[in-house]
Amino acid sequence: MTVDVDQPADRSVLTGKRILFGVTGSIAAFKAAGWVRELTAESVGVTVVMTGAAERFVSSLTFGALSGNPVYRDMFDEAPDRLMAHINLSREADCILIAPATAQTIARLAHGMADDLLATVVLAARIPVVLCPAMNSNMLSHPATRKNLRQLQDMGYHVIPADRGILACGEEGAGRLPQWESVRETLLRLFSPQDLAGKKIVVTAGPTREPLDPARFLSNRSSGKMGYALARTAARRGAEVVLVSGPVALPEPVGIRTIQVNTADEMRAQVVSLARNADIVIKAAAVADFKPEKYRRQKIKKSSAGTVIELEQNTDILAELGKTRQPGTLLVGFAAESRNHEQEGFRKLRQKNVDLVVVNDILGAATGFDVDTNQVLLVDGNGSRRLPLLSKVETANRIWDHVLTLNDSGALSGGV
Ligand code: PMT
Repeated sequence: MTVDVDQPADRSVLTGKRILFGVTGSIAAFKAAGWVRELTAESVGVTVVMTGAAERFVSSLTFGALSGNPVYRDMFDEAPDRLMAHINLSREADCILIAPATAQTIARLAHGMADDLLATVVLAARIPVVLCPAMNSNMLSHPATRKNLRQLQDMGYHVIPADRGILACGEEGAGRLPQWESVRETLLRLFSPQDLAGKKIVVTAGPTREPLDPARFLSNRSSGKMGYALARTAARRGAEVVLVSGPVALPEPVGIRTIQVNTADEMRAQVVSLARNADIVIKAAAVADFKPEKYRRQKIKKSSAGTVIELEQNTDILAELGKTRQPGTLLVGFAAESRNHEQEGFRKLRQKNVDLVVVNDILGAATGFDVDTNQVLLVDGNGSRRLPLLSKVETANRIWDHVLTLNDSGALSGGV
């Protein structure tokens, strides 16, 4: 199950891509079958090439049924449409994914061998190659395997590190096939425009929690989905992302430095510090405007029904960033509004001294808090522009597209 919030209606960057899926002789080949299904579910064209050893673990029938395409195994297959398979297959693909990649296959590829169809296809290919090593941990840590993997990386191959855990042989260590989410993120980055490469981006997401007593806190309905979508899409487009997240139920995004915070004060401390070296700060977090003036060390008893809770204001982090902004840092704020969207957007743009305000309607059933979609109004110094209703992932991509146009004003340090 992918954790992305891509809606089926949305075209993820994988849709329509063609992947040549190499399967080699490891017990993890059965997991590769599930990955083929995940890819075809995203309308990715998959053609499987198996080594002879792979067929000892999973039949070619399985991969043929899952991919909906013929499976290639034999380099000397004399069928007319397969005579030049080792050349044609790589020409008809956008990338090669080899999972699992055994020590034997890694060694052969590192030395440019062409002794079976998969190795020959890879040698003839001029498209990205992604490898997922899977083997016993001693084999993986052996100097020969490590040297071969370094050699492949030096040749520009993408090697996804094996996971740690209990291996098929019963031993524990590194050598398990990585989680599908990690592989999918690598493919998404491979196929995304690297137009945020080199940019240091700070993203805030989720709610904050302002403690009232040992059992209670003030918070809000933010799920973190909008901020996590911004962080993931920026990383896919090449940015160096730090995500500062309030407490949410989402898994941490793969490959992104995530700092967990609870209160507005904790979020402020992290963001103010990180912003000093950031090219872009985008604040999708629903930071509590207020906190209880007094934290009760004992749980408030039911009998205290008439208790009045005095509130005090939290620091407006975005406004503080606007006052102390570094030259060349782009500041993007969000606005959770229930009315007067455009007016409130321009007010916040000016009052907080930011470059872009993303206004979203928190009353809409498909917009704002805790839904997978959003419809936002982009407000900047040039005016306002309303986006259509999209998944939060696609909304995030559109926001990054817009941020890149702001570079015309020279706001992005170092240009893009
Ligand atoms: O997380 P989801 O469930 O996906 O929901 C997404 C969202 C609705 C939370 C998100 O799209 C959104 O609107 N985030 C901003 C919510 C908010 O606090 O809006 P605001 O209008 O109250 O604040 C305006 C801006 O000031 C925001 O960028 C906010 O991060 C920032 N702020 C607010 C208060 C505060 N003390 N410090 C701040 O920095």
